[in-house]
Amino acid sequence: MKIAVLRETRAGESRVAASPETVKKFIALGATVSIERGAGEGANFLDHAYSDAGAAIAGTLSEATTGADLIIGVRAPAADAMTRFQRGQKIVAIVSPHSSADVLQAAASAGVDLFAMDLMPRITRAQSMDVLSSQSNLAGYKAVIDAAAYYGRAIPMMMTAAGTIAPAKIFIMGAGVAGLQAIATARRLGGVVSATDVRWAAKEQVESLGASFVTVDEEAMKGAETAGGYAKEMSADFQRRQAEFVGKHIAKQNIVVTTALIPGRPAPRLVTEEMVRSMAPGSVIVDLAVEQGGNVALSRRGEVIDVGGVIIIGFENVPGRLATDASSLYAKNLFNF
Ligand code: NAI
Repeated sequence: MKIAVLRETRAGESRVAASPETVKKFIALGATVSIERGAGEGANFLDHAYSDAGAAIAGTLSEATTGADLIIGVRAPAADAMTRFQRGQKIVAIVSPHSSADVLQAAASAGVDLFAMDLMPRITRAQSMDVLSSQSNLAGYKAVIDAAAYYGRAIPMMMTAAGTIAPAKIFIMGAGVAGLQAIATARRLGGVVSATDVRWAAKEQVESLGASFVTVDEEAMKGAETAGGYAKEMSADFQRRQAEFVGKHIAKQNIVVTTALIPGRPAPRLVTEEMVRSMAPGSVIVDLAVEQGGNVALSRRGEVIDVGGVIIIGFENVPGRLATDASSLYAKNLFNF
């Protein structure tokens, strides 16, 4: 079997779908691997590391993919690039199928089979192939590190001869994979951490990490989880009560990290402009859902903005900000698949 590794073409995509380690493993299984020149540069995997692992370095996309049975990438190729592949080839990547009808149509017309790694079942047996988990975990960590970098104060409590610094109050909204890692990271930095989610099952997970859980309505939260473990869209009445409750809490926080998503739907709007303006100057908000429409009213994709002294961070592709680790884990997920 010939496996081709794509060089990512989307602006800002620093990750790569194979690491020198997984190349070695593919070759040990009897495959040949061809990788586009420079594909790993953004993740600090240089061509010589891949060739040392046994891969052939290809100068162009067509050289890498001609005759390949399996093509692996981080993001699915764009719709207008599908004609560059051959009928019957299989491409494995993150596809975002709910918002990429044009890509699916182009792949169908070109006779290319697309495997969407982001549709992997979220079950225990599939965990080693679960790219949403491997990438969200890193995003949750990096969101807190980014917040700390923009926060003009210290996070842990410090008692010094010159006086005492109070610990930062950090609130995590959405306690899925990203949110739980954000909680753990904020705790390691010494913050006083609270979190909320619409799924009742998240309460125990949040508390097991040493954070307090902000409950809106126990009964409604007990019915908020789908059989697949995802959140449902909540009723207007729940959303109103959540906003009221959370609004009072946010006004007292120094850092807020939002991670709430509903599969296949726009992200729920959790933080209003009024809530942003209720926070003290110097506070920081990170909106990890910004690419799905945003949890925060004022956040902007790819930008860091200042609203009356409150910084709102809307970085895109947050896992790509840790490109080496994100690529290593993603590559391992693909290898396992
Ligand atoms: P996600 O990325 O779809 O959403 C993030 C979080 O936002 C979720 O916890 C969700 O409940 C929450 N959320 C949605 N709407 C909200 C709102 N209005 N207010 C507050 N929070 C809101 O979720 P993720 O991280 O992909 O996890 C989904 C589920 O899958 C979780 O139950 C997780 O534990 C489970 N899972 C299970 C795995 C397994 O192998 N058993 C592997 C990975 C995830």
